[in-house]
Amino acid sequence: MQNMVSGTLNAVQILSAVLVFLFGLALLAIAVMFVVDRTQTKSAVRRNFPVIGRFRYAFEHLGEYFRQYFFAMDREEMPFNRAQRSWVYRAAKGIDNTIAFGSTRDLRPVGTYIFANCPYPVLETDIAPTKALQIGAYARQPYVTASIFNVSAMSFGAISKPAVLALSKGSAKAGNWMNTGEGGLSPYHLEGGADIVFQIGTAKYGVRNDDGSLNDDKLREVAAHDQVKMIEIKLSQGAKPGKGGILPGEKVTKEIAAIRGIPAGEASISPNRHPEIDSAEDLLDMINHVREVSGLPVGFKSVIGAYGWIEDLCDLIIQRGIETAPDFITVDSGDGGTGAAPMSLMDCVGLPIKESLPLVVDIINRYGLDERIHIIASGKLITPAEAAAALCIGADFIQSARGFMFSLGCIQALQCNKNACPTGITTHDKDLQRGLVVADKAERVYQYSKSMHKEIGIIAHSCGVREPRQLKRFHCRVVQDDGRSVPLNEIYPDMTPSEMTATR
Ligand SMILES: Cc1cc2nc3c(=O)[nH]c(=O)nc-3n(C[C@H](O)[C@H](O)[C@H](O)COP(=O)(O)O)c2cc1C
Ligand code: SF4
Repeated sequence: MQNMVSGTLNAVQILSAVLVFLFGLALLAIAVMFVVDRTQTKSAVRRNFPVIGRFRYAFEHLGEYFRQYFFAMDREEMPFNRAQRSWVYRAAKGIDNTIAFGSTRDLRPVGTYIFANCPYPVLETDIAPTKALQIGAYARQPYVTASIFNVSAMSFGAISKPAVLALSKGSAKAGNWMNTGEGGLSPYHLEGGADIVFQIGTAKYGVRNDDGSLNDDKLREVAAHDQVKMIEIKLSQGAKPGKGGILPGEKVTKEIAAIRGIPAGEASISPNRHPEIDSAEDLLDMINHVREVSGLPVGFKSVIGAYGWIEDLCDLIIQRGIETAPDFITVDSGDGGTGAAPMSLMDCVGLPIKESLPLVVDIINRYGLDERIHIIASGKLITPAEAAAALCIGADFIQSARGFMFSLGCIQALQCNKNACPTGITTHDKDLQRGLVVADKAERVYQYSKSMHKEIGIIAHSCGVREPRQLKRFHCRVVQDDGRSVPLNEIYPDMTPSEMTATR
């Protein structure tokens, strides 16, 4: 009996020793993973959330097997579905972006783009480099670039210092431009080495007098930087047309205050319109004034709702002379992104780019201004097909904000307005910013831009043209409500003379 009791005790002791050992081993493994995650530089999520951040990757991987039973399908999430995000993540990591077995894309929904491949695609040996375009023929310093895909406006303030640095460094390496957004020109935009488009928002941050009006001397100073290539006057952006903004006092740090030209620690209010721009005359006056002072190409950004004003503007340009025209117009989509905006504006105001882009292109073409005014399109154009469709419609350049955010590691946590971004992109919390390692993410920005250019080219070559700028409306078809697709030039037949020759 005594032997049996002592035997049982021994077994219990051994079992507890094993459990204690396993528990210790698990703790040790967690400690090692913690140190590895905290010190590695590739993943912001694991760097900011050591150990538990690993579950995200495990779930993402397991999702491939279980999603079909339980959760959202690949193409169901908003604003960007998993298929789109995964494409950007893989492109940014420079890893194989081919898929197996067959497409998961449903080709039936109305509005789906399908490209018309050519029976005789362009041979690899016949591929041409993308044609460079000159923007601002009448500016003292026109800008020449072949980069089709570029970084859209995001202000330093809305995005963090390491995010600005990584975007600028990656853009410099890829050869694409980067738009400052309305928060002024920071040293980090310059440090990264990218070509810069300086944006003048309604509060004129960075180039303002104390009363919020434009300060010509400050504008001259900004334009004097070699890297600053163009100026964009922001009339509106897709996510919040007709809405200004308040930068709360606690966000106006000394550094942000100095860059924007406002007092530190006090809330700063951006008006919902440039007070001095209330008509086509005012807009053209402002464009010409800014071009005269800066010597750089000048354009404006707007989301389109009403469009008679663009015709008024074109009438005035014809009257005053084509040299007075804006050098570019950035057409932003009604479903564009931002750091923070009222849901009613985000959801319900402003046309989506699919509708507004052909509208603007056709007006500019009708007035014969297509050589003079370049069109930049933005709004969820984050994968090659969406960008190529915009080129078919008539855009000269594409800009993306959120595509490049994904390349920086954004996981679409939708916390941009809470200073709690888990990947360090839209937060001023230094601990969270630590996750965003500039050298690593700059390389991803570069790889993403490179992959976009490469795959837009692949679509163009498949359609039988030597480079993306030769894509025309008849290369892209759109699915209609009867399930058939029709070419874009049948839906929007208002074409330039050169397109008419090409279709014959
Ligand atoms: C975090 C963030 C900040 C932005 N800041 C600005 C800005 O300062 N000025 C502006 O004109 N647009 C701003 N935008 C809008 C983008 O430049 C772009 O027009 C819009 O998001 C559509 O492009 P996307 O779908 O590729 O993001 C911002 C967008 C985001 C996501
Ligand atoms: S808060 Fe979320 S959606 Fe916004 S940038 Fe960060 S990861 Fe992306």
